[in-house]
Amino acid sequence: MTATALPTAAALLDLTEEQREIQRLAREFALTEIAPHADEWDRAAHFEKSLVGRLGEAGFLGMLIPEAYDGLGVDTLTYLLALEEIAAVDASTAVLMSVHNSLPTQMILHWGSEGQKQRFLRPMARGEMLGAFALSEPDAGSDAAALRAQARRDGDQWVLDGTKAWVTNGNTADVILVMARTDSASDRKGPRGIGAFIVTPDLPGFGVGKKEDKMGLRASPTVQLVFDGLRVPNENLLGDPGEGFIYAMQSLDNGRLGIAAQAVGIARSALEHAARYAAERRQFGRAIREFEAIQFKLADMATGVTASRALLHAVAAAKDRGESITRFSSMTKLLASETAMWVTTDAIQIFGGYGYMKEYPVERLFRDAKVTEIYEGTSEIQRVVIARELYGP
Ligand code: CAA
Repeated sequence: MTATALPTAAALLDLTEEQREIQRLAREFALTEIAPHADEWDRAAHFEKSLVGRLGEAGFLGMLIPEAYDGLGVDTLTYLLALEEIAAVDASTAVLMSVHNSLPTQMILHWGSEGQKQRFLRPMARGEMLGAFALSEPDAGSDAAALRAQARRDGDQWVLDGTKAWVTNGNTADVILVMARTDSASDRKGPRGIGAFIVTPDLPGFGVGKKEDKMGLRASPTVQLVFDGLRVPNENLLGDPGEGFIYAMQSLDNGRLGIAAQAVGIARSALEHAARYAAERRQFGRAIREFEAIQFKLADMATGVTASRALLHAVAAAKDRGESITRFSSMTKLLASETAMWVTTDAIQIFGGYGYMKEYPVERLFRDAKVTEIYEGTSEIQRVVIARELYGP
């Protein structure tokens, strides 16, 4: 076995010429624009704002947006192939790309007015505006419908009060899709009393709270957002004022595929590093890959990565056929994220003492893998979604 004998995405699927080309472009972009800086950005918890424009110019921020709105308009599989390549080099950049492509842009594309598409979607597709998604709150994580941020109609504006938690790029985004209650305290409608608002940071009452100091994804900023009488014009309300939670849930079906692609990229990278190291590292007079203990680990890791990727690609195809993918999206995120966690753990084991050191790449991959089991719905929530869909409440 050699380190380069890793099964690639192309090994299982007959990719089109365009899919191969975009996959190649993404790999090249990741290796030239990101790889030389990724460790340094991680150590310094530095967000490289210029990367947004460069990702945009390359088309990676408008992948699922039709060409009519300045996007690339590629299919879901092509998008996920590109995302895996970026994640294999830097999971922090991958989350920016995943959130932007899967959540705020898709919400505006599907439920936005023509005016909202012209004003926000076009520049977002070109990477001139970065998107974020604000659903969670300090007391409403897994139980997202329990959110308390309140929106009150005042003439031709909405006034928003509340705090949003763990918002990826909340401090650097130009457009944030914010979910807030539009029902009143005396007439609570649960998940059906939540609206989705297109918020820009220039609006009066918009504030950025605490910036989180995280275990992983350190080059991707995560912040609290604080709304104190935030005034949002009614024209920035997305679709129906009571349907924002449903829009968010439907969008998370796509978002979870993006996080699964991120997890596949992280796991594949850990496998590649471990396989290479096992071929070079000599103990007891031979390369450690010649020991069955290491061979079996690498075999299990390759199997996990391949199975996760295969499910991801199959679900992407089902989505593009217009099928409902809720349970499959949850299964894919669950499998890929838990695989990324044990694969990165085993990669560290293969590296031994070196793997525990920041000097070696698998340490960052291990830290980055963990959050894929948490955000866009924890593994426990994915199991809830799967079980409910298959076997009822
Ligand atoms: N598609 C369409 N509609 C959906 C849906 C989906 N995937 N999921 C739920 N709905 C609808 C339901 O059909 C229901 O509609 P009706 O009123 O017509 O019946 C309504 O939404 C409420 O659904 P539930 O009764 O299932 O709601 P619930 O309160 O029991 O919770 C949950 C559902 C699945 C647990 C949900 O709260 C959930 O997914 N929680 C996890 C939250 C999450 O993923 N957060 C991610 C944060 S964003 C992030 O991490 C981004 C980042 O920056 C990286």
